[in-house]
Amino acid sequence: MAELSSQITQCTKCPLHRSRKNVVVGEGSGRLGVMIVGEAPGSREDLEGRPFVGDAGKLLTEALASLGIYRSDVYITNVVKCRPPNNRPPTSGEIAACLPHLLTQISLLKPRRIIALGLTSGKTLLKLVGVSAGRLREVRGKCFSGRLAGVVAEVCISYHPAAVLRNPHLAGEFLRDLENFFKGLI
Ligand code: URA
Repeated sequence: MAELSSQITQCTKCPLHRSRKNVVVGEGSGRLGVMIVGEAPGSREDLEGRPFVGDAGKLLTEALASLGIYRSDVYITNVVKCRPPNNRPPTSGEIAACLPHLLTQISLLKPRRIIALGLTSGKTLLKLVGVSAGRLREVRGKCFSGRLAGVVAEVCISYHPAAVLRNPHLAGEFLRDLENFFKGLI
Protein backbone atom coordinates (compact mmCIF):
# COMPACT_ATOMS: atom_id res chain seq x y z
CA MET A 1 0.00 0.00 0.00
CA ALA A 2 2.86 2.42 0.81
CA GLU A 3 4.41 1.73 -2.59
CA LEU A 4 1.05 2.21 -4.29
CA SER A 5 0.56 5.50 -2.41
CA SER A 6 3.84 6.86 -3.67
CA GLN A 7 2.97 5.77 -7.24
CA ILE A 8 -0.45 7.45 -7.09
CA THR A 9 1.09 10.58 -5.59
CA GLN A 10 3.33 10.96 -8.65
CA CYS A 11 0.57 10.22 -11.19
CA THR A 12 0.38 12.48 -14.27
CA LYS A 13 -2.00 10.34 -16.35
CA CYS A 14 -4.68 13.03 -16.68
CA PRO A 15 -4.76 16.85 -16.76
CA LEU A 16 -5.93 17.10 -13.13
CA HIS A 17 -2.33 16.70 -11.96
CA ARG A 18 -1.60 20.25 -13.19
CA SER A 19 -4.06 22.00 -10.87
CA ARG A 20 -3.91 19.75 -7.79
CA LYS A 21 -2.26 20.80 -4.55
CA ASN A 22 -2.21 17.25 -3.18
CA VAL A 23 -3.19 13.83 -4.43
CA VAL A 24 -5.83 12.29 -2.16
CA VAL A 25 -4.96 8.61 -2.13
CA GLY A 26 -7.21 7.38 0.70
CA GLU A 27 -6.98 6.46 4.37
CA GLY A 28 -8.12 4.04 7.04
CA SER A 29 -7.31 0.53 8.20
CA GLY A 30 -10.28 -1.06 6.45
CA ARG A 31 -10.34 -3.53 9.34
CA LEU A 32 -14.12 -4.01 9.03
CA GLY A 33 -13.66 -5.10 5.41
CA VAL A 34 -15.41 -2.00 4.10
CA MET A 35 -14.18 0.51 1.54
CA ILE A 36 -16.10 3.78 1.08
CA VAL A 37 -15.68 5.41 -2.32
CA GLY A 38 -16.67 8.99 -3.13
CA GLU A 39 -16.40 10.92 -6.36
CA ALA A 40 -13.33 13.16 -6.19
CA PRO A 41 -11.59 15.43 -3.67
CA GLY A 42 -13.00 18.90 -3.03
CA SER A 43 -11.01 21.99 -2.03
CA ARG A 44 -10.48 21.00 1.62
CA GLU A 45 -9.38 17.48 0.62
CA ASP A 46 -7.03 18.94 -2.02
CA LEU A 47 -5.47 21.18 0.64
CA GLU A 48 -5.07 18.45 3.25
CA GLY A 49 -4.43 15.44 1.00
CA ARG A 50 -7.11 13.48 2.90
CA PRO A 51 -10.53 12.24 1.72
CA PHE A 52 -13.83 13.56 3.07
CA VAL A 53 -12.51 16.20 5.48
CA GLY A 54 -14.78 19.09 4.37
CA ASP A 55 -18.47 19.60 5.16
CA ALA A 56 -19.60 16.44 3.33
CA GLY A 57 -16.85 14.55 5.16
CA LYS A 58 -18.06 15.84 8.51
CA LEU A 59 -21.54 14.51 7.72
CA LEU A 60 -20.11 11.13 6.69
CA THR A 61 -17.87 10.94 9.79
CA GLU A 62 -20.83 11.77 12.07
CA ALA A 63 -23.11 9.26 10.31
CA LEU A 64 -20.49 6.52 10.82
CA ALA A 65 -19.98 7.57 14.46
CA SER A 66 -23.73 7.33 15.10
CA LEU A 67 -23.42 3.64 14.13
CA GLY A 68 -20.41 3.20 16.42
CA ILE A 69 -17.91 3.15 13.56
CA TYR A 70 -14.68 5.17 13.47
CA ARG A 71 -13.37 6.45 10.14
CA SER A 72 -10.22 4.45 10.80
CA ASP A 73 -12.25 1.19 10.84
CA VAL A 74 -12.98 1.56 7.12
CA TYR A 75 -10.90 2.62 4.12
CA ILE A 76 -12.08 5.88 2.55
CA THR A 77 -11.12 6.93 -0.96
CA ASN A 78 -12.51 8.39 -4.18
CA VAL A 79 -12.90 7.25 -7.79
CA VAL A 80 -10.68 10.17 -8.88
CA LYS A 81 -7.72 11.03 -6.66
CA CYS A 82 -7.15 14.67 -7.74
CA ARG A 83 -9.50 17.63 -7.40
CA PRO A 84 -11.36 18.65 -10.56
CA PRO A 85 -11.21 22.47 -10.89
CA ASN A 86 -14.20 24.27 -9.31
CA ASN A 87 -15.47 20.90 -8.05
CA ARG A 88 -16.91 19.98 -11.45
CA PRO A 89 -17.70 16.28 -11.87
CA PRO A 90 -14.74 14.27 -13.19
CA THR A 91 -14.86 13.53 -16.93
CA SER A 92 -15.09 9.98 -18.26
CA GLY A 93 -11.47 10.33 -19.43
CA GLU A 94 -10.30 11.33 -15.93
CA ILE A 95 -12.25 8.45 -14.40
CA ALA A 96 -10.75 5.98 -16.89
CA ALA A 97 -7.22 7.30 -16.28
CA CYS A 98 -7.63 7.01 -12.49
CA LEU A 99 -9.51 3.69 -12.33
CA PRO A 100 -6.38 1.48 -12.28
CA HIS A 101 -5.45 3.11 -8.94
CA LEU A 102 -8.82 2.19 -7.39
CA LEU A 103 -8.57 -1.35 -8.79
CA THR A 104 -5.13 -1.79 -7.25
CA GLN A 105 -6.44 -0.47 -3.92
CA ILE A 106 -9.28 -3.02 -4.08
CA SER A 107 -6.89 -5.87 -4.93
CA LEU A 108 -4.65 -4.97 -1.97
CA LEU A 109 -7.36 -4.28 0.62
CA LYS A 110 -9.74 -7.08 -0.46
CA PRO A 111 -12.87 -5.42 0.99
CA ARG A 112 -16.02 -7.51 1.50
CA ARG A 113 -18.22 -4.50 0.86
CA ILE A 114 -17.59 -1.39 -1.17
CA ILE A 115 -19.92 1.50 -0.41
CA ALA A 116 -20.24 3.84 -3.38
CA LEU A 117 -21.46 7.33 -2.49
CA GLY A 118 -23.35 9.09 -5.27
CA LEU A 119 -23.97 8.31 -8.91
CA THR A 120 -20.45 8.87 -10.28
CA SER A 121 -18.98 6.38 -7.85
CA GLY A 122 -22.00 4.07 -8.09
CA LYS A 123 -21.95 3.91 -11.89
CA THR A 124 -18.20 3.34 -12.01
CA LEU A 125 -18.20 0.52 -9.45
CA LEU A 126 -21.39 -1.12 -10.69
CA LYS A 127 -19.98 -1.24 -14.23
CA LEU A 128 -17.10 -3.30 -12.85
CA VAL A 129 -19.57 -5.92 -11.57
CA GLY A 130 -21.56 -5.85 -14.82
CA VAL A 131 -24.50 -3.71 -13.67
CA SER A 132 -25.46 -0.62 -15.64
CA ALA A 133 -27.04 2.09 -13.51
CA GLY A 134 -28.99 4.92 -15.12
CA ARG A 135 -30.35 6.78 -12.14
CA LEU A 136 -29.36 6.72 -8.50
CA ARG A 137 -32.88 5.92 -7.37
CA GLU A 138 -32.76 2.59 -9.30
CA VAL A 139 -29.83 1.32 -7.25
CA ARG A 140 -29.72 3.37 -4.02
CA GLY A 141 -29.95 1.24 -0.89
CA LYS A 142 -29.04 -1.93 -2.79
CA CYS A 143 -25.94 -4.15 -2.90
CA PHE A 144 -24.70 -6.07 -5.96
CA SER A 145 -22.22 -8.94 -5.74
CA GLY A 146 -19.44 -9.45 -8.20
CA ARG A 147 -15.72 -9.78 -8.76
CA LEU A 148 -13.64 -6.61 -9.02
CA ALA A 149 -9.88 -6.65 -9.45
CA GLY A 150 -10.01 -10.38 -8.62
CA VAL A 151 -11.86 -9.74 -5.35
CA VAL A 152 -15.37 -11.03 -4.65
CA ALA A 153 -17.22 -8.16 -2.99
CA GLU A 154 -20.59 -6.48 -2.72
CA VAL A 155 -21.00 -3.01 -4.20
CA CYS A 156 -23.57 -1.06 -2.15
CA ILE A 157 -24.93 2.31 -3.22
CA SER A 158 -26.16 5.34 -1.28
CA TYR A 159 -26.39 9.08 -1.60
CA HIS A 160 -23.34 11.28 -1.74
CA PRO A 161 -23.14 13.11 1.63
CA ALA A 162 -22.99 16.45 -0.25
CA ALA A 163 -26.46 15.62 -1.63
CA VAL A 164 -27.65 14.95 1.94
CA LEU A 165 -26.27 18.35 2.98
CA ARG A 166 -28.23 20.01 0.16
CA ASN A 167 -31.37 17.93 0.87
CA PRO A 168 -31.52 17.20 4.61
CA HIS A 169 -34.67 15.11 4.12
CA LEU A 170 -32.41 12.40 2.62
CA ALA A 171 -30.53 12.01 5.92
CA GLY A 172 -32.79 9.26 7.28
CA GLU A 173 -32.41 7.07 4.18
CA PHE A 174 -28.65 7.73 4.10
CA LEU A 175 -28.26 6.56 7.71
CA ARG A 176 -30.47 3.52 7.19
CA ASP A 177 -28.46 2.57 4.09
CA LEU A 178 -25.19 2.76 6.01
CA GLU A 179 -26.67 0.75 8.87
CA ASN A 180 -27.77 -1.98 6.43
CA PHE A 181 -24.44 -1.99 4.60
CA PHE A 182 -22.56 -2.61 7.87
CA LYS A 183 -24.88 -5.46 8.96
CA GLY A 184 -22.88 -8.54 9.91
CA LEU A 185 -19.60 -6.61 9.98
CA ILE A 186 -19.83 -4.77 13.34
N1 URA B 1 -16.57 14.60 -1.99
C1 URA B 1 -16.07 13.44 -2.45
O1 URA B 1 -16.65 12.76 -3.29
N2 URA B 1 -14.93 13.03 -1.93
C2 URA B 1 -14.25 13.70 -0.99
O2 URA B 1 -13.19 13.23 -0.58
C3 URA B 1 -14.80 14.91 -0.55
C4 URA B 1 -15.97 15.34 -1.06
